[in-house]
Amino acid sequence: MSKVAPIDQRKSEHIQICLEEDVRSAVKTGLERYRFVHEALPEIALADVNLGLSLFGKQLSAPILISSMTGGTEEAGEINARLAEAAQETGIAMGIGSQRAAIENPSQTPTFSIARKMAPNALLFANLGAVQLNYGYGIDECRCAIDMLEADALILHLNPLQEAMQIGGDTNFMSLAKKIEEICKKLEVPVIAKEVGWGISERTAKLLANCGVDAIDVAGAGGTSWSQVEMHRAPDEFTRELAATFKDWGINTADSILNVKKVAPKMTIFASGGLKNGVDIAKSIALGATLGGMTGLFLESAMISTEKVVETIELVKRQIEVTFFAAGFSTMNEIVGVGLRPTPTHPPTPTRPNQYP
Ligand SMILES: Cc1cc2nc3c(=O)[nH]c(=O)nc-3n(C[C@H](O)[C@H](O)[C@H](O)COP(=O)(O)O)c2cc1C
Repeated sequence: MSKVAPIDQRKSEHIQICLEEDVRSAVKTGLERYRFVHEALPEIALADVNLGLSLFGKQLSAPILISSMTGGTEEAGEINARLAEAAQETGIAMGIGSQRAAIENPSQTPTFSIARKMAPNALLFANLGAVQLNYGYGIDECRCAIDMLEADALILHLNPLQEAMQIGGDTNFMSLAKKIEEICKKLEVPVIAKEVGWGISERTAKLLANCGVDAIDVAGAGGTSWSQVEMHRAPDEFTRELAATFKDWGINTADSILNVKKVAPKMTIFASGGLKNGVDIAKSIALGATLGGMTGLFLESAMISTEKVVETIELVKRQIEVTFFAAGFSTMNEIVGVGLRPTPTHPPTPTRPNQYP
């Protein structure tokens, strides 16, 4: 057997490991540093909280994103079908996993395209690794990924550390910004640049803004750690130890949002990386994000049924609504990027000069 696992085998191992092992980063999301100010007199009705927004020409019922996860195997196709059906029913956005598997083996196309079939009106994001632009991919492959899904936008994911953990990983990230810029210029739909769990620095945000991307999904540290995932599937001790070294690597999600906001204030930001519930999504929005994405909760629900995914989405939506209500906001416009209402959990202890005379 080749030492490099075929893409579909790797994808099923990823799902299994994410469901069964502890793959959490040692880094915290940074969202725990913030709390909303509770308003005992919010002066609004819970029923009037409206989480609706429009993005890339589609109307969403809430700022929730099922983050890019899978495709390429029969099981992955079923997961995509359930997630997509639930996204359609609840009016939220969804990404699918990297479509490289289907571009290289078109027989796998239905495991991705099923998402559009089940969600004819949902905001759906195609997905490819940006680094593939250094390995022969170009505008044709990007268009192929979009057509496969009739996608509303293309996510180009940035995963240098994950590739560095894989035997035979695609680690040539040289001059990639220029190629991303070319795709942004030529592509007919918006381009979203996305990390996969280690966050976005100011330098990277500036580079991406100069490339002309339409949005950045920060996918910060604090949730799934891909070095931990790769550690669990490492074929030898060397690779395992290499991966284990990076458990506490990366820029947390809150800092990543603020980094993008600082250098590209008008950039549309998606928050993901360790978001646990609707309160975390609301905090991300208050920090400047437009959508909050999650994987784990949705993946676990999709292993059960479409109904379970719908139930999970409805719970997350209600958590956001109640957060808005108790913090005194009734619409997305009031909260998005407007003044940081969250306050530090542990404010610095004020100095009292004469405490110990
Ligand atoms: C099983 C699984 C597969 C994933 N596959 C992809 C992928 O193909 N493309 C991508 O951009 N991100 C992929 N991701 C990364 C997620 O979209 C997300 O950015 C990351 O896991 C951080 O979010 P979390 O902490 O909520 O898991 C995957 C995540 C999981 C859990």
